[in-house]
Amino acid sequence: MAIISSRPQPANSGEPPKKARVSGAKPTGKSLSHRDLLQGAATIEEQQEVPSNQQNLNPQEEKIRPQRLEDYIGQKDLKGVLQIAIAAAQGRNDPLDHLLLYGPPGLGKTTMAVILATEMGTNCQITSAPALERPRDIVGLLMKITAGDILFIDEIHRLSRMTEELLYPAMEDFRLDITIGKGQSAKIRSLPLPPFTLVGATTRVGALSSPLRDRFGLIQRLKFYDLAELQTIVQRTARILPVEVTPEGAEEIARRSRGTPRIANRLLKRVRDYAQVQQAAQATTKITQEVAVEALELLEVDPLGLDWTDRSLLQIMIDNFKGGPVGLDSLAAATGEDVKTIEEVYEPYLLQIGYLQRTPRGRIVTDAARKHLGD
Ligand SMILES: Nc1ncnc2c1ncn2[C@@H]1O[C@H](COP(=O)(O)OP(=O)(O)OP(=O)(O)O)[C@@H](O)[C@H]1O
Ligand SMILES: [Mg+2]
Repeated sequence: MAIISSRPQPANSGEPPKKARVSGAKPTGKSLSHRDLLQGAATIEEQQEVPSNQQNLNPQEEKIRPQRLEDYIGQKDLKGVLQIAIAAAQGRNDPLDHLLLYGPPGLGKTTMAVILATEMGTNCQITSAPALERPRDIVGLLMKITAGDILFIDEIHRLSRMTEELLYPAMEDFRLDITIGKGQSAKIRSLPLPPFTLVGATTRVGALSSPLRDRFGLIQRLKFYDLAELQTIVQRTARILPVEVTPEGAEEIARRSRGTPRIANRLLKRVRDYAQVQQAAQATTKITQEVAVEALELLEVDPLGLDWTDRSLLQIMIDNFKGGPVGLDSLAAATGEDVKTIEEVYEPYLLQIGYLQRTPRGRIVTDAARKHLGD
């Protein structure tokens, strides 16, 4: 499976990624006539340049990202639905239905898109909506698609209107409608596309236009992970890093990971650093529960996984707004955080653990949160 990504890559790429992910290396198998047509298209005259910044995904992150469905821990419902969809599509020799994955950051949306490509034995082209600002960006990507490919668009709620409109016939009829020429002489040409699967990911499903949402055959929500699942994820990542972790050590890290694999992996790496320095005199590094607690306290991650920002958000609501209800804009102004960051990153977990409530008049801090903060 080749992965083509238009995501920025850190400068220190280190060792090359182990799994195959070469951009554009695969023969396209497409007739030249599409390209010939495009060369003359005034509206997309810079076609050759797109997508502009094809690069590999972060290799360090890739090492710990599960590659097969069997390695993808938790999300039982999602996996069940997809297993059936994959088996049915393969039985018919069809591409998978277009799939929309939504849920808070770090729960495994991108991971699932990459796994789907592996399971289906196809290419996965990865991009994100902000990289598809101009119509020619999406045209460029669609022209590269080969039969059965997965096109993954992250932050799909941020697509520009014109890009979105190009996607409608592409998703529905595997057809690309492009305008050739300008003004009165402009003509619309329809080009057939090979059947492909669009996988969209978003943290804000409500921000998607309904015509776009309706074109997805499968719409799936990712849920926060439970303690046992996160513990398994920590243990799996520890084996890959590699670093020794006791079951209790892994559980401690899992408990403070806000139900989120990305946070679990991040905390594990920080705890490993701490353990390594602390145990420098010893031959091996071992993460026990005690070491995990010490390291996480140093990082100001409390036993429930709340960090400094979560606590100050709740504290400001209590101190400045008598615990609410307070509107999101006022909260953003008082905390200096951006409205979207509060809504997409901080709030979902606080709502999940019952520390915040959303009401029509604004957000309210619950008694449980007051108790946790010692108020
Ligand atoms: N089910 C899982 N099992 C094991 N590890 C996982 C799982 N889901 C996610 N991870 C790990 O968490 C990391 C973050 O996941 P991913 O990048 O897929 O999140 P995301 O939902 O796409 O986040 P964002 O909304 O920020 O793009 C991955 O690198 C992967 O290692
Ligand atoms: Mg992602």
